[in-house]
Amino acid sequence: MNHLLKLTDLSTAEILDILDTADRLKYQKKHGIEHHYLKGKALGMIFRKSSTRTRVSFEVGMYDLGGTALFLSSQDLQIGRGEPVQDTARVLSRYLDGIMIRTFDQEEVEALAEHGSIPIINGLTDYCHPCQVLADLMTVRERRGDLAGQKMCYIGDGNNMCNSLIAGGIKTGMKVSVACPQEYAPDAELMKWAAENGAFTCTRNILEAAADADVLFTDVWASMGQESEAEQRKKVFKGYQINDAVVAAAKPDVMVQHCLPAHREEEITEKVFEAHADEIFEEAENRLHAQKAVMVKLMA
Ligand code: CP
Ligand code: NVA
Repeated sequence: MNHLLKLTDLSTAEILDILDTADRLKYQKKHGIEHHYLKGKALGMIFRKSSTRTRVSFEVGMYDLGGTALFLSSQDLQIGRGEPVQDTARVLSRYLDGIMIRTFDQEEVEALAEHGSIPIINGLTDYCHPCQVLADLMTVRERRGDLAGQKMCYIGDGNNMCNSLIAGGIKTGMKVSVACPQEYAPDAELMKWAAENGAFTCTRNILEAAADADVLFTDVWASMGQESEAEQRKKVFKGYQINDAVVAAAKPDVMVQHCLPAHREEEITEKVFEAHADEIFEEAENRLHAQKAVMVKLMA
Protein backbone atom coordinates (compact mmCIF):
# COMPACT_ATOMS: atom_id res chain seq x y z
CA MET A 1 0.00 0.00 0.00
CA ASN A 2 1.62 3.26 -1.20
CA HIS A 3 -1.32 5.68 -0.94
CA LEU A 4 -4.89 5.85 0.37
CA LEU A 5 -6.82 7.08 -2.65
CA LYS A 6 -9.98 4.93 -2.37
CA LEU A 7 -10.91 1.80 -0.43
CA THR A 8 -11.33 -0.43 -3.46
CA ASP A 9 -7.56 -0.12 -3.98
CA LEU A 10 -6.93 -1.91 -0.65
CA SER A 11 -7.10 -5.64 0.00
CA THR A 12 -9.25 -6.99 2.82
CA ALA A 13 -6.06 -7.87 4.71
CA GLU A 14 -4.75 -4.30 4.35
CA ILE A 15 -8.01 -2.85 5.69
CA LEU A 16 -8.05 -5.22 8.66
CA ASP A 17 -4.39 -4.47 9.33
CA ILE A 18 -5.18 -0.73 9.46
CA LEU A 19 -8.05 -1.44 11.90
CA ASP A 20 -5.80 -3.59 14.13
CA THR A 21 -3.15 -0.86 14.12
CA ALA A 22 -5.80 1.76 14.92
CA ASP A 23 -7.00 -0.29 17.92
CA ARG A 24 -3.42 -0.53 19.16
CA LEU A 25 -2.78 3.20 18.71
CA LYS A 26 -6.02 4.00 20.55
CA TYR A 27 -4.89 1.83 23.45
CA GLN A 28 -1.49 3.52 23.51
CA LYS A 29 -3.03 7.00 23.48
CA LYS A 30 -5.55 6.15 26.23
CA HIS A 31 -2.80 4.69 28.42
CA GLY A 32 -0.28 7.47 27.83
CA ILE A 33 2.15 5.13 26.06
CA GLU A 34 4.45 7.07 23.73
CA HIS A 35 4.05 6.17 20.06
CA HIS A 36 6.35 8.47 18.10
CA TYR A 37 6.47 6.30 14.99
CA LEU A 38 6.69 9.36 12.72
CA LYS A 39 9.33 11.35 14.58
CA GLY A 40 10.77 14.08 12.37
CA LYS A 41 8.20 13.55 9.58
CA ALA A 42 5.95 16.21 8.08
CA LEU A 43 2.46 15.90 6.62
CA GLY A 44 1.00 18.58 4.34
CA MET A 45 -2.79 18.96 4.56
CA ILE A 46 -4.30 20.59 1.46
CA PHE A 47 -7.90 21.74 1.86
CA ARG A 48 -10.13 22.95 -0.96
CA LYS A 49 -13.21 22.44 1.28
CA SER A 50 -14.07 23.12 4.92
CA SER A 51 -13.34 20.65 7.71
CA THR A 52 -13.54 20.25 11.46
CA ARG A 53 -12.83 16.57 12.13
CA THR A 54 -10.43 15.79 9.31
CA ARG A 55 -8.25 18.82 9.90
CA VAL A 56 -8.05 18.52 13.66
CA SER A 57 -7.65 14.74 13.78
CA PHE A 58 -4.84 14.69 11.22
CA GLU A 59 -3.05 17.57 12.93
CA VAL A 60 -3.33 16.09 16.42
CA GLY A 61 -2.56 12.64 14.99
CA MET A 62 0.76 13.81 13.56
CA TYR A 63 1.60 15.48 16.88
CA ASP A 64 0.82 12.22 18.73
CA LEU A 65 3.09 10.33 16.34
CA GLY A 66 6.00 12.71 16.95
CA GLY A 67 5.74 14.49 13.60
CA THR A 68 4.32 17.76 12.40
CA ALA A 69 1.38 18.77 10.19
CA LEU A 70 0.99 21.84 7.98
CA PHE A 71 -2.46 23.23 7.21
CA LEU A 72 -2.41 24.34 3.57
CA SER A 73 -5.57 26.09 2.44
CA SER A 74 -5.81 25.95 -1.35
CA GLN A 75 -6.73 29.64 -1.25
CA ASP A 76 -3.26 30.43 0.01
CA LEU A 77 -1.37 27.98 -2.20
CA GLN A 78 -0.37 28.65 -5.80
CA ILE A 79 -2.49 25.63 -6.72
CA GLY A 80 -5.46 27.90 -5.97
CA ARG A 81 -4.14 30.30 -8.64
CA GLY A 82 -3.75 27.57 -11.22
CA GLU A 83 -0.27 26.11 -10.63
CA PRO A 84 -0.56 22.61 -12.15
CA VAL A 85 -1.09 19.72 -9.77
CA GLN A 86 1.81 17.82 -11.33
CA ASP A 87 4.22 20.65 -10.40
CA THR A 88 2.71 21.03 -6.92
CA ALA A 89 3.16 17.29 -6.40
CA ARG A 90 6.81 17.36 -7.43
CA VAL A 91 7.62 20.39 -5.27
CA LEU A 92 5.82 19.22 -2.13
CA SER A 93 7.41 15.77 -2.48
CA ARG A 94 10.76 17.44 -1.80
CA TYR A 95 9.64 19.01 1.48
CA LEU A 96 7.11 16.62 2.97
CA ASP A 97 6.79 12.93 3.88
CA GLY A 98 3.10 12.70 3.01
CA ILE A 99 0.12 14.73 1.78
CA MET A 100 -3.49 14.59 2.88
CA ILE A 101 -5.81 16.35 0.44
CA ARG A 102 -9.50 17.26 0.61
CA THR A 103 -10.81 18.39 -2.74
CA PHE A 104 -13.60 18.06 -5.31
CA ASP A 105 -12.23 15.85 -8.09
CA GLN A 106 -10.97 12.36 -7.36
CA GLU A 107 -8.74 12.87 -10.41
CA GLU A 108 -6.80 15.60 -8.59
CA VAL A 109 -5.93 13.17 -5.77
CA GLU A 110 -4.93 10.50 -8.28
CA ALA A 111 -2.79 13.05 -10.15
CA LEU A 112 -0.94 14.04 -6.98
CA ALA A 113 -0.14 10.36 -6.41
CA GLU A 114 0.96 9.90 -9.99
CA HIS A 115 3.26 12.90 -10.16
CA GLY A 116 4.57 13.05 -6.58
CA SER A 117 6.92 10.64 -4.87
CA ILE A 118 5.37 10.58 -1.36
CA PRO A 119 2.23 8.89 0.04
CA ILE A 120 -1.07 10.66 -0.75
CA ILE A 121 -4.09 10.32 1.54
CA ASN A 122 -7.59 11.17 0.32
CA GLY A 123 -9.26 13.34 2.96
CA LEU A 124 -12.54 13.43 0.97
CA THR A 125 -13.46 14.02 -2.65
CA ASP A 126 -16.85 14.20 -4.35
CA TYR A 127 -16.33 10.50 -5.12
CA CYS A 128 -15.30 9.04 -1.77
CA HIS A 129 -14.28 9.48 1.87
CA PRO A 130 -12.04 6.52 2.75
CA CYS A 131 -10.62 7.93 6.03
CA GLN A 132 -14.11 8.34 7.43
CA VAL A 133 -15.16 4.82 6.53
CA LEU A 134 -12.04 3.30 8.11
CA ALA A 135 -13.12 5.04 11.34
CA ASP A 136 -16.67 3.75 10.82
CA LEU A 137 -15.52 0.16 10.35
CA MET A 138 -13.31 0.52 13.43
CA THR A 139 -16.28 1.72 15.48
CA VAL A 140 -18.58 -1.09 14.36
CA ARG A 141 -15.88 -3.71 14.94
CA GLU A 142 -15.06 -2.29 18.36
CA ARG A 143 -18.66 -2.62 19.49
CA ARG A 144 -19.70 -5.73 17.57
CA GLY A 145 -16.59 -7.84 17.05
CA ASP A 146 -16.33 -9.26 13.54
CA LEU A 147 -17.50 -7.18 10.59
CA ALA A 148 -18.08 -10.15 8.28
CA GLY A 149 -21.73 -11.12 8.07
CA GLN A 150 -23.04 -7.92 9.69
CA LYS A 151 -25.58 -5.93 7.70
CA MET A 152 -24.93 -2.24 7.07
CA CYS A 153 -27.69 -0.06 5.66
CA TYR A 154 -27.13 3.42 4.21
CA ILE A 155 -30.08 5.74 3.66
CA GLY A 156 -29.82 8.98 1.66
CA ASP A 157 -27.68 10.49 -1.08
CA GLY A 158 -25.51 8.08 -3.08
CA ASN A 159 -22.57 10.38 -2.38
CA ASN A 160 -18.91 10.11 -1.33
CA MET A 161 -19.83 8.55 2.03
CA CYS A 162 -22.17 6.06 0.41
CA ASN A 163 -19.53 5.03 -2.13
CA SER A 164 -16.88 4.46 0.54
CA LEU A 165 -19.29 2.57 2.80
CA ILE A 166 -20.14 0.24 -0.09
CA ALA A 167 -16.44 -0.32 -0.79
CA GLY A 168 -15.43 -0.78 2.86
CA GLY A 169 -18.45 -2.90 3.71
CA ILE A 170 -18.05 -5.30 0.80
CA LYS A 171 -14.26 -5.56 1.31
CA THR A 172 -14.78 -6.62 4.93
CA GLY A 173 -17.55 -9.12 4.19
CA MET A 174 -20.47 -7.05 5.42
CA LYS A 175 -23.88 -7.18 3.74
CA VAL A 176 -24.55 -3.75 2.26
CA SER A 177 -27.97 -2.29 1.49
CA VAL A 178 -28.54 1.23 0.18
CA ALA A 179 -31.79 3.19 -0.09
CA CYS A 180 -31.63 6.32 -2.23
CA PRO A 181 -33.68 8.21 -4.82
CA GLN A 182 -33.20 6.77 -8.31
CA GLU A 183 -31.41 9.82 -9.70
CA TYR A 184 -29.05 10.03 -6.71
CA ALA A 185 -27.70 6.49 -6.80
CA PRO A 186 -24.10 5.61 -5.84
CA ASP A 187 -21.41 5.29 -8.51
CA ALA A 188 -22.64 2.82 -11.16
CA GLU A 189 -19.30 1.06 -11.65
CA LEU A 190 -18.89 0.65 -7.89
CA MET A 191 -22.38 -0.85 -7.55
CA LYS A 192 -21.54 -3.35 -10.27
CA TRP A 193 -18.31 -4.24 -8.46
CA ALA A 194 -20.20 -4.59 -5.15
CA ALA A 195 -22.81 -6.92 -6.63
CA GLU A 196 -20.06 -9.09 -8.12
CA ASN A 197 -17.99 -9.21 -4.95
CA GLY A 198 -20.46 -9.52 -2.10
CA ALA A 199 -24.01 -9.10 -0.83
CA PHE A 200 -25.22 -5.74 -2.18
CA THR A 201 -28.70 -4.29 -2.76
CA CYS A 202 -29.91 -0.84 -3.78
CA THR A 203 -33.58 0.10 -3.44
CA ARG A 204 -35.95 3.11 -3.07
CA ASN A 205 -37.60 1.50 -0.06
CA ILE A 206 -35.98 2.62 3.19
CA LEU A 207 -37.75 0.09 5.41
CA GLU A 208 -36.80 -2.77 3.11
CA ALA A 209 -33.18 -1.59 3.13
CA ALA A 210 -33.15 -1.25 6.93
CA ALA A 211 -34.74 -4.66 7.61
CA ASP A 212 -32.60 -6.57 10.15
CA ALA A 213 -29.71 -4.13 9.81
CA ASP A 214 -26.93 -4.27 12.42
CA VAL A 215 -25.82 -0.72 11.67
CA LEU A 216 -27.57 2.23 10.03
CA PHE A 217 -25.70 5.03 8.26
CA THR A 218 -26.78 8.28 6.71
CA ASP A 219 -25.23 11.56 5.57
CA VAL A 220 -26.31 15.06 4.60
CA TRP A 221 -28.66 15.53 1.65
CA ALA A 222 -26.50 18.31 0.18
CA SER A 223 -22.73 17.87 0.36
CA MET A 224 -20.03 20.52 0.27
CA GLY A 225 -20.13 22.16 -3.15
CA GLN A 226 -23.88 21.44 -3.57
CA GLU A 227 -25.11 24.35 -1.45
CA SER A 228 -27.06 25.86 -4.37
CA GLU A 229 -29.05 22.61 -4.75
CA ALA A 230 -29.93 22.38 -1.06
CA GLU A 231 -33.57 23.50 -1.33
CA GLN A 232 -34.36 21.29 -4.30
CA ARG A 233 -32.60 18.35 -2.62
CA LYS A 234 -34.76 18.77 0.49
CA LYS A 235 -37.78 17.91 -1.69
CA VAL A 236 -36.14 14.92 -3.39
CA PHE A 237 -34.75 13.40 -0.19
CA LYS A 238 -37.79 13.97 2.01
CA GLY A 239 -38.49 10.51 3.42
CA TYR A 240 -34.88 9.33 3.15
CA GLN A 241 -34.41 9.81 6.87
CA ILE A 242 -33.28 7.67 9.81
CA ASN A 243 -36.21 7.91 12.22
CA ASP A 244 -38.06 5.68 14.68
CA ALA A 245 -39.69 3.61 11.92
CA VAL A 246 -36.32 2.87 10.30
CA VAL A 247 -34.75 1.96 13.65
CA ALA A 248 -37.74 -0.31 14.38
CA ALA A 249 -37.21 -2.13 11.06
CA ALA A 250 -33.58 -2.88 11.97
CA LYS A 251 -32.25 -5.29 14.62
CA PRO A 252 -33.32 -4.37 18.18
CA ASP A 253 -29.73 -3.45 19.15
CA VAL A 254 -28.95 -1.59 15.91
CA MET A 255 -26.07 0.90 15.90
CA VAL A 256 -26.51 4.29 14.24
CA GLN A 257 -23.57 6.10 12.66
CA HIS A 258 -23.20 9.54 11.09
CA CYS A 259 -19.96 10.97 9.73
CA LEU A 260 -21.03 14.51 10.79
CA PRO A 261 -21.83 17.30 10.40
CA ALA A 262 -25.50 16.25 10.86
CA HIS A 263 -28.65 18.10 9.84
CA ARG A 264 -31.24 17.17 12.44
CA GLU A 265 -34.76 16.51 11.15
CA GLU A 266 -33.37 16.16 7.62
CA GLU A 267 -31.39 12.92 7.17
CA ILE A 268 -31.81 11.94 10.84
CA THR A 269 -34.25 12.90 13.58
CA GLU A 270 -33.00 14.66 16.68
CA LYS A 271 -34.42 11.81 18.74
CA VAL A 272 -32.52 9.03 16.97
CA PHE A 273 -29.36 11.13 16.80
CA GLU A 274 -29.33 11.82 20.53
CA ALA A 275 -30.26 8.23 21.43
CA HIS A 276 -27.14 7.08 19.53
CA ALA A 277 -24.89 10.07 20.28
CA ASP A 278 -22.42 7.93 22.18
CA GLU A 279 -21.77 5.73 19.13
CA ILE A 280 -21.70 8.71 16.78
CA PHE A 281 -19.12 10.65 18.79
CA GLU A 282 -17.02 7.53 19.30
CA GLU A 283 -17.06 7.29 15.50
CA ALA A 284 -15.81 10.89 15.33
CA GLU A 285 -13.07 10.12 17.87
CA ASN A 286 -12.02 7.08 15.88
CA ARG A 287 -11.11 9.32 12.94
CA LEU A 288 -8.00 10.18 14.96
CA HIS A 289 -6.96 6.59 15.65
CA ALA A 290 -7.79 5.23 12.19
CA GLN A 291 -5.90 8.01 10.41
CA LYS A 292 -2.89 7.62 12.65
CA ALA A 293 -2.89 3.97 11.60
CA VAL A 294 -3.02 4.98 7.92
CA MET A 295 -0.12 7.41 8.40
CA VAL A 296 1.97 4.82 10.24
CA LYS A 297 1.34 2.28 7.46
CA LEU A 298 2.22 4.77 4.72
CA MET A 299 4.89 7.00 6.24
CA ALA A 300 6.81 5.11 8.97
N1 CP B 1 -16.74 13.77 8.76
C1 CP B 1 -15.86 14.68 8.33
O1 CP B 1 -15.08 14.43 7.44
O2 CP B 1 -15.91 15.86 8.99
P1 CP B 1 -15.17 17.20 8.59
O3 CP B 1 -15.82 17.69 7.32
O4 CP B 1 -15.42 18.13 9.74
O5 CP B 1 -13.73 16.94 8.38
N1 NVA C 1 -21.06 14.09 2.06
C1 NVA C 1 -20.51 15.08 2.93
C2 NVA C 1 -19.55 14.47 3.89
C3 NVA C 1 -18.95 15.43 4.88
C4 NVA C 1 -17.96 14.79 5.80
C5 NVA C 1 -19.83 16.16 2.11
O1 NVA C 1 -19.12 15.81 1.15
O2 NVA C 1 -20.01 17.34 2.40
